[in-house]
Amino acid sequence: MLTNDVLDRWDRDNFFHPSTHLAQHARGETPSRIVTGGKGVFIEDRDGNRLLDAFAGLYCVNVGYGRSEIAEAIADQAKELAYYHAYVGHGTEASITLAKMVLERAPKGMSKVYFGLGGSDANETNIKLVWYYNNILGRPNKKKIISRWRGYHGSGLVTGSLTGLKVFHDKFDLPVERVIHTQAPYYYRRDDRTMSEAEFVAHCADELEALIAREGAETIAGFIGEPVLGTGGIVPPPAGYWAAIQNVLKKHDILLIADEVVTGFGRLGSMFGSDHYGIEPDIITIAKGLTSAYAPLSGSIIGDRVWKVLEQGTDENGPIGHGWTYSAHPIGAAAGVANLKLIDSLGLLQNARETGAWLNTAMKEALGEHAHVGEVRGEGMLCAVEFVEDREERRFFDPAAKVGPSIAAALLKRGVIARAMPQGDILGFAPPMCLSKAEADEVVGKTAEAVKDVLG
Ligand SMILES: Cc1ncc(COP(=O)(O)O)c(C=O)c1O
Repeated sequence: MLTNDVLDRWDRDNFFHPSTHLAQHARGETPSRIVTGGKGVFIEDRDGNRLLDAFAGLYCVNVGYGRSEIAEAIADQAKELAYYHAYVGHGTEASITLAKMVLERAPKGMSKVYFGLGGSDANETNIKLVWYYNNILGRPNKKKIISRWRGYHGSGLVTGSLTGLKVFHDKFDLPVERVIHTQAPYYYRRDDRTMSEAEFVAHCADELEALIAREGAETIAGFIGEPVLGTGGIVPPPAGYWAAIQNVLKKHDILLIADEVVTGFGRLGSMFGSDHYGIEPDIITIAKGLTSAYAPLSGSIIGDRVWKVLEQGTDENGPIGHGWTYSAHPIGAAAGVANLKLIDSLGLLQNARETGAWLNTAMKEALGEHAHVGEVRGEGMLCAVEFVEDREERRFFDPAAKVGPSIAAALLKRGVIARAMPQGDILGFAPPMCLSKAEADEVVGKTAEAVKDVLG
């Protein structure tokens, strides 16, 4: 076996890591971690640390680590048939079964599932399909997509544009044309602090109306949003937000894409965030929780109204010119089938609901009144703590002080992984959905200690 220092040198010499300070990493100035194993909500590394992963990787290992049912399904599939493509009507038992299982769980009005590899490529598919849809309907100018500031939809060319976070745009010449942004439904950070939640919701809908009026409804094809803002700060929507937004979209014949990469398959304690909030999407993006990240697989669930037009398009133009070599990869599909069965048999939706509520309540009790905590918020098995310099005046810390990352580092020292969210001093939690109440208590207790270490 290679020694840790050899691996560390090879890593810094050869490996281009995503979302990493490349220069510091290459120079060996930042810590790295070589992960070796995982069981339940814990991971282990080569230095012998055992860490409670309260972010489930990148909120994706929803059933927890070390599930042999999924590992065996992958191994069986690989032995029987590791690969065949899905073009021109080809499939495997796993991919056909998974499509059926996804649709059985999906909100009503959904027609078919296209499978990709990750959330970014699924959203690229979705935008292409929305453009195709309007071309088939004879509306070649109806192409712009509205996303929200602080939304996260991937880091490709179009999806990085949809993502409403500066770090994903700057120096990459994004956003591309045709992608525009509107107000984030982030009540705590509203500009006018005198606004009630209902007034703020009306304000979000008015801002959307105004944007559509400025651009011209005849130029706007789609609106994309996560049921709960994720990477942008883990922010559940204010009450009535989705109903107000959907009214505006319906009025202007704008398709709605619900990006359920994080919320799909149980994270909110409901199968989909769309059901949780009464959203009626035209397309749903799925990834992470579809396989609990045991193998890469994503999907676009296409609603009836879009599907009809796609069929019309191929009757008029021939086969659809879209597909990846690895679409519906059998190994990913086998992992997906085993994963969805496990979510049901372990009762993980119920646990996400119950233990998620337990986690959120305990976090509020532990930190809700802290002088430097502005808000503790969450839904299901999602939770966030937002730190402020001055609670009364809602004055935020200077980002250069790196308060959020310092607290995440202090927590890590105590053996718990949480995520310092990229914009704002926000500590995010999205544990595996199998988290127990005792483990939730450990997360909360150690978080309170870490906050004390950094902020007193
Ligand atoms: C809501 C949402 N959409 C899309 C993506 C992109 O998925 P991927 O990183 O698999 O490309 C993510 C990733 O975190 C996400 O949170």
